[in-house]
Amino acid sequence: MNPVKVGLLGLGTVGGGTVTVLQRNGEEIARRAGRAIQITHAAARSLDKPRPFSTEGMTLSSDPFAVVNDPEVAVVVELIGGYELARDLVMQAIDNGKHVVTANKAMIAKYGNEIFARAQEKGVMVAFEAAVAGGIPIIKALREGLAANRIQWLAGIINGTGNFILTEMRDKGRDFADVLAEAQALGYAEADPTFDVEGIDAAHKLTILASIAFGVPLQFDKAFTEGITRITREDVCYAEELGYRIKHLGVSRRTEAGIELRVHPTLIPHRRLIANVDGVMNAVLVKGDAVGPTLYYGAGAGAEPTASAVVGDLVDVVRALTSDPENRVPHLAFQPDRLSDLPILPVEATETAYYLRMEADDRPGVLADITRIFGESGISIEAFIQKEPAEGAVHVPLILLTQRVNEGKMNEAIGRIEALSCINGAVTRIRVEHLDA
Ligand code: HSE
Repeated sequence: MNPVKVGLLGLGTVGGGTVTVLQRNGEEIARRAGRAIQITHAAARSLDKPRPFSTEGMTLSSDPFAVVNDPEVAVVVELIGGYELARDLVMQAIDNGKHVVTANKAMIAKYGNEIFARAQEKGVMVAFEAAVAGGIPIIKALREGLAANRIQWLAGIINGTGNFILTEMRDKGRDFADVLAEAQALGYAEADPTFDVEGIDAAHKLTILASIAFGVPLQFDKAFTEGITRITREDVCYAEELGYRIKHLGVSRRTEAGIELRVHPTLIPHRRLIANVDGVMNAVLVKGDAVGPTLYYGAGAGAEPTASAVVGDLVDVVRALTSDPENRVPHLAFQPDRLSDLPILPVEATETAYYLRMEADDRPGVLADITRIFGESGISIEAFIQKEPAEGAVHVPLILLTQRVNEGKMNEAIGRIEALSCINGAVTRIRVEHLDA
């Protein structure tokens, strides 16, 4: 059988990894797919750039539309990232009857609903395993492996750069900016690194995971996002003292009222496996009603780990080329006409436990004032630490862990505590998840 001809958009970190993996493992991949997979046309911004891989046998174009309009190409691999241009290229490829493989979480989170609808109409596949958690086959696991389950919740470390920064800060006391620069040099970080540290990249990925887990349309605009830029060394140390690690977590939970969709720094008990996922590694914990908790771990970024997912998708697409479109695995795991309208909850309606840190006057009655507010708000305190004042300081750090409480209620209590004359400045709040079965 003739090789399947692939058009590649982007010869950067992941594009290069994809070429390398396809070339190195071509024979093995053909044994799996039933046909050879050959990149025949690639587009890159700069054609003269020296590259550490061979582009022999490929037509090279600086215009990406030349690839999606190439009649020889059967599958387009989109690895340029970003929102609009990528969407236009993918839509054009679909309109031309080509299948698409993409690593673009931003595009899928924002435009996935319209992309999948168009693909459905045209009878083509859009595969996006590489969009979430790099090399971990989490889309396949959720969409196919766990299809028997009613998924209850999932929680993941789904941004390698952020996890790398938090790990280096904790283990080596390194500066935030210094570690971020290293992640950029290693090719882990997004083109705009605020996407990594402010949680936007993780929110893209969480949006995709939640849709597949719960069978709801993609709703990136409703995700709550809080970054890691305000995490201090003190909080990292106090968390450790209380038996927790701080991780930047994406959490999505199904409740009676709707779906929680939130990315924020989170204290996790240090004995949980996921609390020990360090560096650029990612992990996703999924709780299904039948299977219980399951954990998926691996490299969340980087050239070859991400290429592993891209090429895995290419194999899937090639295997299903001759199947009837209605017999293929649905893009969002559930049949497109059976998606649920369960709402995404605003963060004020979500529920977690909390770590709170505040600076208080060192005098009698202060603790009574604080605990009275919690008591009146129906918030139960789980643990409490009071530290000695730093030398020459007039305020003492107070650290509290609360039981689970509605976020709206906690906002009210924090507002009342900050208004007390004995409290200096803002209360630091970090959400806590126990992630138990
Ligand atoms: N910037 C992303 C990360 C790359 O650090 O995880 C993979 O999506």
